[in-house]
Amino acid sequence: MSDQEINDSSPNILLGVTGGIAAYKSLEIVKLLRKNGSDVQVVMTKGAEEFISSATFQNVSSRPVRNNLWDESAESTMTHIDLARWADIVLIAPATAHCIGSLASGLAADLLTTLCLATEAPIIVVPAMNKVMWSNKAVESNCKLLRKRGVSLLGPVYGDQACGEIGYGRMMEPDEIVSQVYKQPIILDKKALAGLNIVITAGPTREPIDPIRYITNRSSGKMGYSLALAARESGAKVTIVSGPVSLETPAGVNRVNVETAEEMYSEVQKLIDDIDIFIGCAAVSDYQAKSTSLEKIKRKNSDLSLDLKPSPDILTSVSARDKGPFTIGFAAETADVMRYAKEKIAKKSLDMIAANKVGPDHGFDQELNSLSVIYGDKVVELDQTSKPILAKKLIKLIAERYNETRINQQLSNDSIA
Ligand code: PMT
Repeated sequence: MSDQEINDSSPNILLGVTGGIAAYKSLEIVKLLRKNGSDVQVVMTKGAEEFISSATFQNVSSRPVRNNLWDESAESTMTHIDLARWADIVLIAPATAHCIGSLASGLAADLLTTLCLATEAPIIVVPAMNKVMWSNKAVESNCKLLRKRGVSLLGPVYGDQACGEIGYGRMMEPDEIVSQVYKQPIILDKKALAGLNIVITAGPTREPIDPIRYITNRSSGKMGYSLALAARESGAKVTIVSGPVSLETPAGVNRVNVETAEEMYSEVQKLIDDIDIFIGCAAVSDYQAKSTSLEKIKRKNSDLSLDLKPSPDILTSVSARDKGPFTIGFAAETADVMRYAKEKIAKKSLDMIAANKVGPDHGFDQELNSLSVIYGDKVVELDQTSKPILAKKLIKLIAERYNETRINQQLSNDSIA
């Protein structure tokens, strides 16, 4: 494999170094990450520079170190927002109690914490501090909050500490950190879906009742758009067929806007012949008005009934096709999630289904989500995390399952021939 090929599929890593004695070990982390083909951009805090010079990091990373939000010359080359977008992963090692507290509080006091707020990349924090600090309740609750928001924490480990004590608080060794980083399910293989066409439905639909009223739901489109971005980053050509949402289209993704279930159905039919993978993430209205009033329905002092009819089932129209695409559905349920999801995968002949518990604090229009993914006789739990990270995990699983299925099909075709 050439260096170019290694670099193409290795993640860009933004390494944050904060002020702890373990900062000197981060030099080894840079070397190991680069050996694995990653480009590494080091961002140092003022505290880190008390322990080690930025020139040393510049040397091993072959990139100027960034350490100041207000550095005009650095910002003119790559702004901190560009940097936040460039990163496939933000790794902070060592992470001090101060840094962890700032991240938990959402502070943007320096370049590193600002980048953490501005990035959609997964964040991995490697704490290093004195054992008493590590067991402090404030640090403990900050770490818990970060985990809940989808930040991964590695270590700390037990051992000798710089202050002469022994206990938990020591930073994990560089080789262990680097091997854990590449094992994270959030790292996408940029070629896993190369050459494949993927269509993803996302967002809600709006079913008109009269010229100003419609039936809709709380879907924000965040889950579907995060899937589109993750699929694009895995090398696929992606089209989102989207209901009305206020989200930007992810870079490199085609977008077709629709309002109603009928429109979503007909746009999907136009694309269906050319697709390898279909993901039905939209919250498509199950019902639409039997007839739409041309004028505003007037208020009367009596009950009003609306006649509804089922809207077209987009997912089934895809999965029912002979030699159709690999089809993934979602099952949004408020109760008995697994039972209904299993019924849906069978009834709609899907290759995979993502069971999504929904409710006031789950699923719809939330930043965090969790899924139980069912395929064959397997169930994979994707625990609660941010939607962009969850989407990466799901896309990774879809890519693995898709490739496994295609290999099995090929083998069975060969044995028939
Ligand atoms: O958009 P967010 O705010 O980020 O929220 C994400 C989400 C909760 C909407 C998403 O994760 C999710 O669960 N999407 C599916 C919502 C849904 O309508 O589920 P369902 O169980 O009613 O439908 C089952 C499947 O059939 C879904 O794949 C759905 O897209 C599809 N369907 C449903 C009805 C219909 N007429 N046509 C369809 O294709």
